[in-house]
Amino acid sequence: MPSDSSMPCGARIAGTGSAVPATVWTNDDLAKTLDTSDEWITQRTGIRQRHVCIAGDESAFSLQCEALSKALADAGMEASELDLIIVASVTNEMTCPSNACRVAAELGAAPAGAFDLVAACSGFVYSLNLADSLIRTGRHRAIGIVGCDAMSNVVDFNERTVSVLFGDAAGAAVIVRDDDPNKGCVYQTLQADGSGWKALFLPRKESDVPPESPPCDIEMGFLRMEGREVYRFAVSKFKNVIEDAMQATGLGVDDVSQFICHQSNIRIIESAKEKLGLPDDKVYVNIDRYGNTSAGSVGLCLDEIRRAGKIHEGETIILVAFGGGLTWASSVWNL
Ligand code: UT7
Repeated sequence: MPSDSSMPCGARIAGTGSAVPATVWTNDDLAKTLDTSDEWITQRTGIRQRHVCIAGDESAFSLQCEALSKALADAGMEASELDLIIVASVTNEMTCPSNACRVAAELGAAPAGAFDLVAACSGFVYSLNLADSLIRTGRHRAIGIVGCDAMSNVVDFNERTVSVLFGDAAGAAVIVRDDDPNKGCVYQTLQADGSGWKALFLPRKESDVPPESPPCDIEMGFLRMEGREVYRFAVSKFKNVIEDAMQATGLGVDDVSQFICHQSNIRIIESAKEKLGLPDDKVYVNIDRYGNTSAGSVGLCLDEIRRAGKIHEGETIILVAFGGGLTWASSVWNL
């Protein structure tokens, strides 16, 4: 429903929700068929287990519907009150129709606008920034956003360098108009550098693979990653993006209640924490339980943090992510 209001406004996170598949694979489970070990995976990544869509009725779509339903219930709203749904994912079942259209129909949000967004692991923060900006134009009142990936569908479990890192999850939020313009996103960045795309890509056919890509046994349709290159990019980007957000807003560490970071690798998170002097209790970590869930990760963290009572109205949080594309994004929110 388009808003007729031309008054300046802000935005509020009215509800959050998340969903993970029932099946859990521990590192020891992976080590039964792969040349790897719990010790290697835990030390190099911080991951102990991941949830995977194995049951026939579980998919990116089902996780997206469940997470957004929960976010609506948390907000005390009906799907019919949404005027837009954005689903960020690189693992949607089809490119046409968008999963957002199917989620909207499944939950009863039609004729709300609906589209998918591809920004890999940055997808949830991209969607959050977009939702805030669209609400501030006065044209939208309530937007459902979902970040979700079923990475188990696109990693080759016969190959150890990529498969141990990822898991499946969805995180959702309902963003609504607020009369207070100081509420919502007070600073944001949406950035990308496509010259780095070859570090992380999902080829459909041989011709998608750049000739200079190192030979590997990963089949078509499965994710390829230059782990060390992505690691270097992530470590520097994480620090720079948080630093930029704090400088631009004049915030100090004490002014921020939580830094909600994409869960890529515990070493990447620890490096940013150390360089910026962020205390343990302000940087949430759940990668040990879920692995890297790509677009699902930041929304899943936000939902768990809210439910644990770690953030409150009036506080400021900073959300940051980076991923394939290469993409990165930050979002500073006054709750
Ligand atoms: O969300 C954005 C997406 N991606 C990321 O954020 C990933 C960023 N990168 C990383 O997190 C790390 O680079 C990885 C976790 C992927 C890899 O860790 P690493 O410390 O960079 O390991 P490496 O690739 O340098 O490999 C070290 C050794 C190699 O053996 P050699 O050549 O030293 O004999 C690998 O073959 O570890 C070996 N190795 C493994 N060993 C046991 C690689 N994968 C495994 C494995 N189990 N699963």
